[in-house]
Amino acid sequence: MFSPLFFLTFLLPLFPVHADQAKSHTTNPDLNARLKTAATNFDRQALLPQDSDWYYDFEQHPNYNSAVGAVITADAASFPALTNLGISIALLKLAPCGMLPPHLHPRATNLVTAITGNTTTWMIGENGVKTVRVDLTPLRVTIFPRGSLHVMQNNDCEPALLISALNSDDSGTLNILPSLWSVPQDIIRAGFGDASINAEDLGKYIPEVGTGAIIGSMECQQRCGIVHGKE
Ligand SMILES: *[C@@H]1O[C@H](CO)[C@@H](O)[C@H](O)[C@H]1NC(C)=O
Repeated sequence: MFSPLFFLTFLLPLFPVHADQAKSHTTNPDLNARLKTAATNFDRQALLPQDSDWYYDFEQHPNYNSAVGAVITADAASFPALTNLGISIALLKLAPCGMLPPHLHPRATNLVTAITGNTTTWMIGENGVKTVRVDLTPLRVTIFPRGSLHVMQNNDCEPALLISALNSDDSGTLNILPSLWSVPQDIIRAGFGDASINAEDLGKYIPEVGTGAIIGSMECQQRCGIVHGKE
């Protein structure tokens, strides 16, 4: 009575494409598990029989055309053939004046190279060390050591494209501001050293992780004549 196609169409919304989400959606956790337990590389490769198991298309990601830019990551979650290989790669698409807000990767050192644009990066390795600023112009590469806090902004009125390599197939990302606002307000006030600030107001407009990218400084937006709504 009902064709298999009918059921497929019906079931698809139960497996939503995680648009607007920076964390890679684990496409095939069962395959990840089998790749992790394969006895040999020979057995492992038998789990990846198709040529199409061996490539990942950044432009197929639902966030690829996001107006605020996006971080699109090929890692064990989105590209299972990377399981246990200790590496992942992300395409960083920054909108005009776009930025990646302050974040760190708990499990990977990160090398970022610019393909196009002029993106300023800041990196802080630990308390007391110098904040390193690098203008990433095309084909210049910089290092964000594992756990270092970093932030970047596209200075240009054009989109910028960068490639980010990470030495983990599951690097993880921690955005500092939204995560800080998950602790109680009086703890945040104490952290700021000022019990009188209104932490709720202060945190009201912190962008969610979203696509991983946001729109950057007012200075840049004004210089570029861009008016962005609240995303
Ligand atoms: C990149 O942008 C920065 C900040 O606006 C600027 O100081 C620097 O001169 C630019 N670099 C190039 C090569 O345009």
